[in-house]
Amino acid sequence: MSVDSGAPLVLVSNRGPVTFEEDGSMSRGTGGLVTALTGLASHRDAVWIASAMTTADAKRAKEAGDEPIHVLTPNGGEYQVTLVASDPEAYDGFYNIVANPMLWFIQHYLWDLSNAPDIRQHEIEAFDYGYRVVNEDLARAVIKQIDGLEHPVVMVHDYHLYLLPAMVRAARPDAFLHHFVHIPWTQSDAWRVLPGRLRDEVFRGILANDIIGFHTTSYRRNFLQCCEDLMGLEVDHAAGIVRYEDREVWVRSYPLPIDAGATLQVARSARVRQFETELLRRRRDHLILRVDRADLSKNVLRGFSAFDLFLEQHPEFREHVTFVAQLMPSRTDVPEYAEYLERIEALVAVVNHRHGTPDWMPIQLKLRDDLEEAVAAYKHYDVLLVNAMFDGMNLVAKEGPLVNERAGVSILSENTGAHEELGEYALSVNPFDIQELADAIHSALTMSETRRAERLEGLKAKVTERDPGDWIDDQLADIRQKAGLELELSPPPLDPA
Ligand code: F6P
Repeated sequence: MSVDSGAPLVLVSNRGPVTFEEDGSMSRGTGGLVTALTGLASHRDAVWIASAMTTADAKRAKEAGDEPIHVLTPNGGEYQVTLVASDPEAYDGFYNIVANPMLWFIQHYLWDLSNAPDIRQHEIEAFDYGYRVVNEDLARAVIKQIDGLEHPVVMVHDYHLYLLPAMVRAARPDAFLHHFVHIPWTQSDAWRVLPGRLRDEVFRGILANDIIGFHTTSYRRNFLQCCEDLMGLEVDHAAGIVRYEDREVWVRSYPLPIDAGATLQVARSARVRQFETELLRRRRDHLILRVDRADLSKNVLRGFSAFDLFLEQHPEFREHVTFVAQLMPSRTDVPEYAEYLERIEALVAVVNHRHGTPDWMPIQLKLRDDLEEAVAAYKHYDVLLVNAMFDGMNLVAKEGPLVNERAGVSILSENTGAHEELGEYALSVNPFDIQELADAIHSALTMSETRRAERLEGLKAKVTERDPGDWIDDQLADIRQKAGLELELSPPPLDPA
């Protein structure tokens, strides 16, 4: 099959590895998906198809005549990228209404159901003339890319592209389609928010794949249950198989590891050292750190409320501890996200006002995306706070301990994908329980050096056990196995004689 036969592997996702700016510069795409795929895209013969996200991206796509662009990134990555420009209005409905917040909120249990969402014509049209259109645009690019290839393999990524597999399947029944979902898959009832027709289209779209992958066994279980509850399909839970139309869809879990080598290399860079000098100059006895996209699922507000409570209940720590929160503004055209940023800033002001002194600011809020600055802080935290309400994996929970040099303790929400692997060595918290989180901060800061070091060693061992290459290899092994089985099982062609 083509994974072995030298034909290029086709990756498709909304966000690509780079974004071009008007001044000709480029920035690295953000988020776990890009981190996961960069190794695959630069080490194997792969073409990465992604949405053009800026006007400069659209210009580059046009100049390239919709053919792959050869991209060299400042950090040494090398990719073949096809950027696909969609109609701006369609893209707005796709990204700002359907993918975020509608699907994102369903898949992180974020809807406050007595208040929202209100689904009206506007949302339905965003699905019909936005989400579907962008899926069609990317599907067309995929179909063009695999034209003439025998048994091509297409790896589809994330919740932006649930309709695309059915579109590619209709044009190329012989293609092998693999879809990895980087965010949680929630239980059946969460999906009942989506009107039946839309939900059906989403499930029919994703079930056109041959294999569907998730980060954890629990998301895999939820997906299988949804197929039974919402689609009335026959499901083999133990084997992880859904029977759909005349095919078997395999449902698997592949927890994403971090690229430890790359992260350690960043940790040794000169720019990280500059940030460290500044950080060490300003640090108090204890440093609590969080690094996140400013996303509602990350539970930033309860993190600050817990810190507020901790300072109230343990005044002996006042002036001895600083909470550094590095948050990257995200999806700011979505009203829920813009409002969330405002609420974050307001709560930080309240906590700083309540406990701060003329020369001590309890919470230092940094609203920016700077990998080196974050890595410098990873090295020196005493406590890493990852208290997401629900999170597909959470790579910060893996990167932080890898480079930490102070026997830092991880406080980790039990609802993150990373908890399945790291829970044993972290202080597990229920992300809604503010008192438990305040207590965990206290336990972490008063824990003996030996116990802290033991936990950190456990975490370091866990996060270096596997790398993203292993993650890809596991998926490719399943692709080979399933494709091989199908070739064996397919009836021999009829003898024309
Ligand atoms: O990893 C989950 C994810 O939603 C990716 O799909 C996405 O690229 C990333 O987080 C960041 O989100 P966005 O692309 O909307 O900035």
